[in-house]
Amino acid sequence: MAEILNIKNLTKSYDDLVVLDHVDLSVNKGEVVVIVGPSGCGKSTLLRCVNAFEQIQEGEVTLHGERINPCRGKLNTVREKIGMVFQSYELFPHKTVLQNMTLAPVKVKKINKKDAEKEAEALLDRVGLLSKKNNYPHQLSGGQKQRVAIVRALMMHPEVLLLDEITAALDPEMVREVLDVVIQLAKEGRTMVIVTHELSFARAVADRMVFIDGGKIVEEGSPEEFFERPKTERLKKFLDSFSYSAK
Ligand SMILES: Nc1ncnc2c1ncn2[C@@H]1O[C@H](COP(=O)(O)OP(=O)(O)OP(=O)(O)O)[C@@H](O)[C@H]1O
Ligand SMILES: [Mg+2]
Repeated sequence: MAEILNIKNLTKSYDDLVVLDHVDLSVNKGEVVVIVGPSGCGKSTLLRCVNAFEQIQEGEVTLHGERINPCRGKLNTVREKIGMVFQSYELFPHKTVLQNMTLAPVKVKKINKKDAEKEAEALLDRVGLLSKKNNYPHQLSGGQKQRVAIVRALMMHPEVLLLDEITAALDPEMVREVLDVVIQLAKEGRTMVIVTHELSFARAVADRMVFIDGGKIVEEGSPEEFFERPKTERLKKFLDSFSYSAK
């Protein structure tokens, strides 16, 4: 499989606090990599370094061999290629669902507005939200907002999608509808790096699992190895803390 994203020797600190400590991670085209680890271990920071939201102290991130952090060219060009969805949706409150989705493609990618609207409607239809296209974010449930945030990211045709705890703010009954969308994207062969605390979802969607602790990758492997036969004590303890059972 062809490598699409490469993180090499990445070190990120805030003043004296080393948050990511010489991290290496490679992601192939069409691969779904799921990152888990205790709170504060550096998961969100890693995703933010990948799309150059953060400056890094050492190492580099490349997409198709082209360096994106430290960034040489235009930051916007990097961010067009890498979509990111957050726990907090980040929809524009004063824009409708359709406007939220078409804004960046029209402004940044210079897509014709009618074409962008057509694509947005098709994506909304796929996630069961076409009837909400003229609603404002505050008129949607959390799960609906998050599904809009996901399809909004797809409007830019990103090469890699980064998802950071996208169900963490949702009521339990809405988690499923959002995770189902992500599972569909995985089946379509989208390249994704996903941070989540939902271990059964992780297992269902991951091609490869990565465990970070204390800013380092402590263990990685296939979902089966990772959950059934963890090698390190730290991962065993982490899985136990979720009372994760492989049954
Ligand atoms: N802007 C910042 N300035 C200083 N320290 C920061 C900043 N952002 C994050 N940190 C610190 O970096 C460490 C890693 O944070 P990060 O948000 O990446 O953790 P995380 O693994 O995503 O945790 P969680 O599971 O709780 O979301 C934490 O110790 C955090 O306090
Ligand atoms: Mg986080």
